[in-house]
Amino acid sequence: MLDKLERLPADTILGLAAACRADPNPAKVDLTIGIYMDEQGLCPVFEAVRQAQQALVAEELTKAYMPPAGDEAFIQGMQRLLLGEGSSALRDQRVGSVQAPGGCGALRIGAEIIRAAAPDARVWVSDPTWPVHFPLLGSVGLRFATYRYYDPAGHDVNFDAMVEDLKQATAGDVVLLHGCCHNPCGADLSLEQWAVVADMAARQGFTPFIDFAYQGLGDGLEQDAAGLRLMVERVPELIVAASCSKNMGLYRERVGLALFVCRDEANAQALVSQALVAARRIYSMPPAHGALLAGRILSSPALTSSWRSELEAMCRRINGLRSGLRLKLEQASGRDFGFIEKEKGMFSFLGLSTEQALRLRRDYSVYMLDSSRINVAGVNAANIDYLARAVAAVL
Ligand SMILES: Cc1ncc(COP(=O)(O)O)c(C=O)c1O
Repeated sequence: MLDKLERLPADTILGLAAACRADPNPAKVDLTIGIYMDEQGLCPVFEAVRQAQQALVAEELTKAYMPPAGDEAFIQGMQRLLLGEGSSALRDQRVGSVQAPGGCGALRIGAEIIRAAAPDARVWVSDPTWPVHFPLLGSVGLRFATYRYYDPAGHDVNFDAMVEDLKQATAGDVVLLHGCCHNPCGADLSLEQWAVVADMAARQGFTPFIDFAYQGLGDGLEQDAAGLRLMVERVPELIVAASCSKNMGLYRERVGLALFVCRDEANAQALVSQALVAARRIYSMPPAHGALLAGRILSSPALTSSWRSELEAMCRRINGLRSGLRLKLEQASGRDFGFIEKEKGMFSFLGLSTEQALRLRRDYSVYMLDSSRINVAGVNAANIDYLARAVAAVL
């Protein structure tokens, strides 16, 4: 039976990162996979995580299963982080959440809920979107529709086109939005644009599904959540898939939250029960370690403050790299790269052709996706000049 199965190609992004690791060129530059890297090219462990981990290891009494919905301190802390301390939805107890294995697990739980509520739902995704959205949501049986989002010529959101396309989204449809730091393009909606989409959702009846994997890496924890919070004020229901992979550096621990803002408390409880049954049939129980760390950080003022200031430094560094890269590319090429500085988070399309991206890889050992999406956090003081000269050379 099993020998019928063929070998499948490796994931494109992971495959490129592996090719870069194997490249003997000492000047190589890895701008592929979406993880934060510091000046030394390392993805660091937050000091708050280190401290929470030491305490957890010292105090942990059991490895028995977690409660099915997850760690309560984690859930409460995340709900406040996402929706804000003064959230009226939280006060009215019309929010239900379950811990999930990473943002991916949260997206999957969200998809299971959508499928249970509306089996024929269409999920509207931005063009382009993170490619993993398709298998994650599609394998549940949901159908997709696409709305225009990024304009490669203008290096910005084509908001008129987005609105035009989303006019077709109706009650029973879901519109998937990137909460901040759009992956892959880095071009985010302004608050005014969030308001327009929120009003469309309220008027047309579609349900927003917000993939929130980069809170804190755009402008800051509160600023990055402004669009989501505005949406919560204006629409009766929405789903959030949050991740602590990037903003707490807990990538391999698989920490995320599926959050449902509902019409009322009874509906919120119903959705949690549905999410638990969905989780039970996929992976049964949530993993403990990462969520217990995040729960400790979010419930301790000292750890929260340490974590926040380290995250703010990361965010400042990414934005500094954006300005620096813009400058170096403009100096090296004489062209306008101002868009890099306007975008948010770790990603940007440099606007190169596939041919140019391939030449960069082949001739300069500069690794970016074929679409010329780069991870800005892979840039550092040691490689920025080389990178800018290499890009200018293939233009
Ligand atoms: C847009 C987007 N959503 C969700 C995720 C989920 O990440 P994780 O499952 O590692 O938390 C990622 C990770 O790269 C992402 O880029």
